[in-house]
Amino acid sequence: MQVIFKFVRRSYIKLCKTCETTRSICVLGIETSCDDTGIAIVNSDRKVLANVVYSQQYIHSRYGGITPPRAQDLHRQQISNAFQHCMTEAGIVPHKIDAIAVTNKPGLPLSLIVGVRFAKYLARTYSKPLVTIHHMEAHALQARMEHTIPYPFLCLLISGGHCQLTYIKAPNEFSLLGESLDDAPGEAFDKIARRLRLYVIPKYRNFSGGQAVEDAARSATNPEIFEFPLPLTNKRNCNFSFAGIKNNSFRLIKAAEEIQCTAPDNIINNYNNFCAGLLKACSRHLMNRTQRAIEYCISKNFFQNSVPRLVVSGGVANNDYIFDDLKYLTEQYSCQIFRPSKKFCSDNGVMIAWNGVEQILANRHCLNWDYDEIDIIGKAPLGCRLIHEVERANIKCKWVQQRK
Ligand code: KG4
Ligand code: ZN
Repeated sequence: MQVIFKFVRRSYIKLCKTCETTRSICVLGIETSCDDTGIAIVNSDRKVLANVVYSQQYIHSRYGGITPPRAQDLHRQQISNAFQHCMTEAGIVPHKIDAIAVTNKPGLPLSLIVGVRFAKYLARTYSKPLVTIHHMEAHALQARMEHTIPYPFLCLLISGGHCQLTYIKAPNEFSLLGESLDDAPGEAFDKIARRLRLYVIPKYRNFSGGQAVEDAARSATNPEIFEFPLPLTNKRNCNFSFAGIKNNSFRLIKAAEEIQCTAPDNIINNYNNFCAGLLKACSRHLMNRTQRAIEYCISKNFFQNSVPRLVVSGGVANNDYIFDDLKYLTEQYSCQIFRPSKKFCSDNGVMIAWNGVEQILANRHCLNWDYDEIDIIGKAPLGCRLIHEVERANIKCKWVQQRK
């Protein structure tokens, strides 16, 4: 016990010395929580030395969606190459890395375990400390790498697995204001796009559902043809629901297929209008819940007399239509809005490495040399829950209308 303690102290001091003196710290980030194998190196000067993402999208889309065992096999096949590729791109040797950050929660357990095992192997081989990362916290702080966004700020996390509104006071102080009661928006886009059979259009074969819906919506001539319900209108909280929109979509598609006698391997002819209507409904829902969160934070002086700030992050933050709606909303509250560059909105190793940098700078005790202590956690809450407090505040908003 004594010996272990001494080892931990000595190594901890060693890293502290390097970061407090001349050079910045350099962190390797490993992300395998779902279907992307991401490895990157970022330093505390906000420089991305390498960013490698091996996507599995192409394979999963051929089989109609992600299956965890297949995702695990693909991570296993790719992770070592991704690491070599990353080191070559960065042009440094592994000894130059100060710490290894790895996503250990939340995510698909079979996927998480591949990244965590590989991180432990690297940590042992090169004698480096590990920092464990919460995938959603990493999405939430990613925009700080590229923009000056002081704490505190509000963050809308929209991805394939999550939909959360969170107030962030510090790198490890998150308060959850609202979350999805069922599907995440990206999940809904993916399932609806598959049911609609957008994949029969060659251009969309390797697109994610959300990407395909956004692109198809751009060519719409009449988005109003298809009607979508607005969820949770009677709930004065910041929760979300996308299952109603999804089920309604399935009904609308079925009805249109029957009317148009669409072949089982084809797509309805007015799919552009359908996608535009769907996108508009999802965006409207995201706008309303975010508006209530902004009003709640202002009423509680959560922004501490500074200008309100909203960060939008996660794969669905790639969507320009949704981001522009949210931008319009924030303008009505003199609220600043940010999102990461598109290449960093979806899952990647940079956000994990950057979160490692943030964690280390905020609290050096996050460095872990006891590798056996580290485990994966499939489901992990995001900060402390303020969902009921928001509901109790009973905020009635005068809704900001969507752009025309
Ligand atoms: O954050 P992410 O890469 O992985 C998760 O942690 O889930 O998000 C992936 C999700 C997918 O569901 C995908 O359909 C969605 O992000 N997505 C989009 C767009 N690009 C990716 N959704 C809407 N519009 C987009 N342009
Ligand atoms: Zn993600």
